[in-house]
Amino acid sequence: MCGIVGYVGDNYDISVVVEGLKRLEYRGYDSAGLACVNIDNSINSKNEIKYCKSVGKVGNLQQKIFQEYPNLIAADSNFKSNQQLNVIAHTRWATHGEPSTINAHPHLDTSEKFAIVHNGIIENYENLREHLIAQDFTFKSETDSEVIANLISYCYEGDFFAAVASAVKKLQGTYGIAVISTEKPDEIIVASKGSPIAIGLRENDKIIASDVVAIAAYTKQVIYLSDDDIAIVTSNNIEIRNVDNVVIEREKKTLDWDIESVSKGEYAHFMLKEIFEQPQVLANSVRGRYNLDLATANLAGLNLTAQDIVRLNRIVIAACGTSLNAGLLGEYYFEDLAHIPTEVDQAAEFRYRNPIIEVDSLVLAVSQSGETADTLAAVNEAINKGAIVAAICNSVGSTIARRCGRGVYLHAGVEVSVASTKAFTCQSVVMLLMALMFGRCRRLNQQTGQDLIAEIIKIPQLVEEVLAQSDEIHRIAKKYVKCCNFLYIGRGYLYPVALEGALKLKEISYIHAEGYHAAELKHGPIALLCEDTPVMALANKMPGKDKVIGNIQECLARKAPVVVTATKNDADIEKLAVDDVIWLPEASVYTTPIITAVALQLFSYFVALERGCEIDQPRNLAKSVTVE
Ligand code: AGP
Ligand code: GLU
Repeated sequence: MCGIVGYVGDNYDISVVVEGLKRLEYRGYDSAGLACVNIDNSINSKNEIKYCKSVGKVGNLQQKIFQEYPNLIAADSNFKSNQQLNVIAHTRWATHGEPSTINAHPHLDTSEKFAIVHNGIIENYENLREHLIAQDFTFKSETDSEVIANLISYCYEGDFFAAVASAVKKLQGTYGIAVISTEKPDEIIVASKGSPIAIGLRENDKIIASDVVAIAAYTKQVIYLSDDDIAIVTSNNIEIRNVDNVVIEREKKTLDWDIESVSKGEYAHFMLKEIFEQPQVLANSVRGRYNLDLATANLAGLNLTAQDIVRLNRIVIAACGTSLNAGLLGEYYFEDLAHIPTEVDQAAEFRYRNPIIEVDSLVLAVSQSGETADTLAAVNEAINKGAIVAAICNSVGSTIARRCGRGVYLHAGVEVSVASTKAFTCQSVVMLLMALMFGRCRRLNQQTGQDLIAEIIKIPQLVEEVLAQSDEIHRIAKKYVKCCNFLYIGRGYLYPVALEGALKLKEISYIHAEGYHAAELKHGPIALLCEDTPVMALANKMPGKDKVIGNIQECLARKAPVVVTATKNDADIEKLAVDDVIWLPEASVYTTPIITAVALQLFSYFVALERGCEIDQPRNLAKSVTVE
């Protein structure tokens, strides 16, 4: 689920790999490790695999390397190889076995000829392990991954590639793996199924990684492996084959973003930077994607003709977490503007509940990373059932984007903070553009289309105005740092925003927060209201506001502190005896949810900041959940 980095080439130190691991820290992890083949050129030469692992941060690993391998460390404290370097490294997010040094990757086979790092889950590892134990292989860790090392060793008959190919044929589950061997010290073999692997291309060395963020500082030229690909990577060559040994060509891609964009700059946290980037990235998401004369959106990547759109009978959105909340907002857009019945499914639920797909159903997979395992599985299920499947992804070239083959990219730039912010607002605006495009084919007249475009164009400016409230939101947030529970309520378009606001708060501040439809309050959650349980009520000028005001009164009557988001100068709200109001600019029904979400992101950020939380890498969370 976390990070793989590897390097093969003539640059004799491991800084590329350690830097790469550090760049992947944003994904969340619990331990780290690396291994390289130490080549022995003496007469009785015996190559060996050296490795080092530790729990906690990559910095701990670096320190441990320094202690354990002082002779391999140069003055600049980099782990140095005595020959061409061939190294694989990993940050682990434990799925099988606690975070510990033994469970950290790399794992070696019993003979210590092979070392592997693995992202994903091997579902049949217990059977394989029993079988291998019966063949005298031994295991040190509790992980599912260790079985891969012994399996490769078991399959080895003198051909490194053939051993990896026969081993992966026996694996069930998901994997991105990188393997080194004492028998072929100039090769790294990588393989992928449902968990990404990219290879960064340079003339005399190659960098492999599960996320191109670890590669971008060194090269912009990459090749992404597809499912079931196995690649032999040497310093000056890459050969990709499938499990049946057939050679495959994969296109080179050029990364179109700069590594500078992956630094915090003047901000204390990536999350804050990403919140403040929103005016810019929202403009990027919209730029070139509308046509004022035709009063519609241009989303060519969807590859849908007007006829296809007229025929659509249903949209199903499959997503997880924040992307799921954006999908819920999308449901309102598609139904309101395009009159297309829309349902939203937690992606895992979509996959397992045997969803109904008809001719002309469009399945939209919404995913910032484009690597979420449940969303990917939903995509596969939808493709197998014959749906038209499109992706709304941020990560260009990600597995989901490639699998769908059609869709819309967010152009939000790399999102580093585990808590998603800019992806949510960009996903929302992309779905609004889509709803405009579908609506114009089906029911909206030109004037309505033009009015909507005018509102969409205003979003970046409106978000600027929300960001200008940052100090005020910080002041309000400080009052709520000690609470243990928080309820968020909203109606209509603001209901998904209430869910997202609560998710953001719980993720980074560890305050238990739940979002509810305001009407649902009376059906249970009201029992929780008391002086210690504040309520965030989304009461901007929107249809249903009067009813939310009624709900606010119910909260006040039960002595719950109430914070309200409201439209500037709204006299109805000014009259209320609430504790705090976050005043937001006047905006339309379609754009108010987007700007309100930004205010709630800031609120969560400042609460977490005042509580001293580790904002960019909250405990237990990973940036991209590539396991079920
Ligand atoms: C967002 O703040 C979360 N960390 C998480 O819910 C995330 O949105 C979810 O895992 C889905 O990720 P994706 O958009 O990359 O598919
Ligand atoms: N399932 C493996 C483990 O628990 C790999 C986890 C990961 O993807 O980081 O070790």
